[in-house]
Amino acid sequence: MEKPTHRTTVIVICALAGAATLFCAAWWLAGSVKAARQAAERQELYKRLGIDADPKREFIPLPDILPHNAPAARLGQSLFVDRRLARSPYRVCGACHRLNEGGIDARALGGMLPRTAYNAVFADVFLHDGSVTGMPALVRHMIGSTNFCAGGSVSNVAERLAADDKTRKMFQLAYTDGLTADNVVNALVEYQRTLFTSRRKFDYWCSGRTNALDAAQLRGFDIFRSRRCTDCHYGPALGTLKVADGKKVPGLRGISQRRAYLPDATTNIVTVIERMPKGDLEDDDRDALAAFLKTL
Ligand code: HEC
Ligand code: HEC
Repeated sequence: MEKPTHRTTVIVICALAGAATLFCAAWWLAGSVKAARQAAERQELYKRLGIDADPKREFIPLPDILPHNAPAARLGQSLFVDRRLARSPYRVCGACHRLNEGGIDARALGGMLPRTAYNAVFADVFLHDGSVTGMPALVRHMIGSTNFCAGGSVSNVAERLAADDKTRKMFQLAYTDGLTADNVVNALVEYQRTLFTSRRKFDYWCSGRTNALDAAQLRGFDIFRSRRCTDCHYGPALGTLKVADGKKVPGLRGISQRRAYLPDATTNIVTVIERMPKGDLEDDDRDALAAFLKTL
């Protein structure tokens, strides 16, 4: 057989280098298209919610609060635990969404771990399968569905509330048209605009306090990005914006306050990581990732 000449070697090397360059260019292009798409999505979101932040920044501290109708939100806060919205005391919003336990109740009724009520304002589609669009529709669903409050229709709820003078007056203070079914829903929607998990370590890091995260947590953050968890867990809440494989991606912000995860209420964060795409990691890396999640 003829030995490869010097020239063929050069040709092969050049072809390989060309292919490698093309591959790198395509990879870089795909990356920048994704970054641009996510930035555009953030820009629209910030406009809708009145958030004052640069949409080009990938990670921002969560707000303490957003512009909202304060009397309506106060009303919503009381409706969140109001018996008249629900079939039983165990079915008021606040029973399944315990605000001092990360917005969930790990022992909630119905066989499915609640998704958190915190940071839900960032989302536009809701429920595990993303089947409900818009926060008002979600609130109506939660009130009416026999899986949740089982409180009947919102008009029924409004009638029950109207029987009480004090409640009627509170609605008159918050709304020019007073107590209506739509305003019952709106009060809960306004209240959701006050529910954030701000001021966690990662929020401080995002506001420029570089020592807010220690070395292990920072390494976990690097792995979070290099393993492309951010393909799905992106945006202010690190999630909530996308439905992937028929499942709505939950926000990871505030996860340090929750003690159970995924619909089956798994309590071990390490097994949750293992069940994620690209979650098959060395023990050290997995622990670093878990350490990072604790800063959220
Ligand atoms: C019996 C328990 C229960 C009650 C009562 C309840 N929820 Fe939920 N909530 C859940 C569960 C379970 C989910 C997750 C359902 C899913 O993902 O399909 C959820 C999801 C949510 C979400 C997050 C949706 C998402 O996709 O991120 C919000 C916000 C919410 N509920 C608000 C409320 C409000 C407001 C009320 C009262 C009007 C309420 N919930 C009453 C159990 C409950
Ligand atoms: C392809 C999209 C996708 C990628 C990539 C992804 N996730 Fe997820 N993640 C999801 C979805 C969807 C759920 C909810 C699954 C469910 O409800 O059954 C979830 C749930 C979680 C939860 C549980 C949250 C909770 O409160 O219950 C954690 C923690 C998590 N992911 C971490 C990660 C980490 C760490 C990575 C990277 C190694 C990652 N995810 C990569 C889509 C993704």
